[in-house]
Amino acid sequence: MKEKGFSQAVIFDLDGVIVSTDEFHFWAWKRLTEREGIYFDRWINEKLRGISRMQSLEIILEKATREYGVADKQQLAAEKNEYYIELINSQLNPSYILPGVMTLLPCLKRKRIGIAIGSSSRNALLILEKIGLDGYFDVVVDGHEIEKSKPDPEVFLLAAKRLGVPAENCLVVEDADSGVEAALSGGMSVLGVGSACHHPKATHTVPDLSKISVQELIDLIGSGKTV
Ligand code: G6P
Ligand code: MG
Repeated sequence: MKEKGFSQAVIFDLDGVIVSTDEFHFWAWKRLTEREGIYFDRWINEKLRGISRMQSLEIILEKATREYGVADKQQLAAEKNEYYIELINSQLNPSYILPGVMTLLPCLKRKRIGIAIGSSSRNALLILEKIGLDGYFDVVVDGHEIEKSKPDPEVFLLAAKRLGVPAENCLVVEDADSGVEAALSGGMSVLGVGSACHHPKATHTVPDLSKISVQELIDLIGSGKTV
């Protein structure tokens, strides 16, 4: 494989960091749970942030009043994904890119900092295409390529390996508690944004990426310090 030649990198989670897909996930799960007569609300939805589709379903089924077998679960997960993709295909566009993203990304590229996506989603490539960022990142690792979901660091370690950058020279940007844990256990510093903007263990936190400059972001790489 060709060496990419980066000495530092930033690995971005996708959903809730680069793009706002939260509502689409919520409405797809809501449609499924209403049909199945399973209680579901926004508080339960919050627990699904960063968690794989099947693990999300397991959390949702904690409120079910009947047992679901393996085949039933696969069917339900597939149906949720159909509902989700319907929403993504009909509604997702570049206006869903989150604040600050399109300022920081080109600056990082200009400074020769590697940029990657490390996402649990199996729809990452479709989402990147819908927001016009397919082919933009140096590396994309998604839910198809990992065995263990966040908080396991697998997705970030694989991204770092593909970038050719040691973990200690990578910064992860995450909105999920599970993702913050994953980054830290992979030996990377982590910027918590959105729902993780008060995470006590994050290296630094901001409400969204418009609240941090490219230099402040770079200073967090491998530092473990706060800006
Ligand atoms: C992201 C979202 C999760 C979602 C997961 C899997 O991490 O934050 O809420 O469950 O991706 O998404 P998928 O698109 O594969 O169903
Ligand atoms: Mg996320």
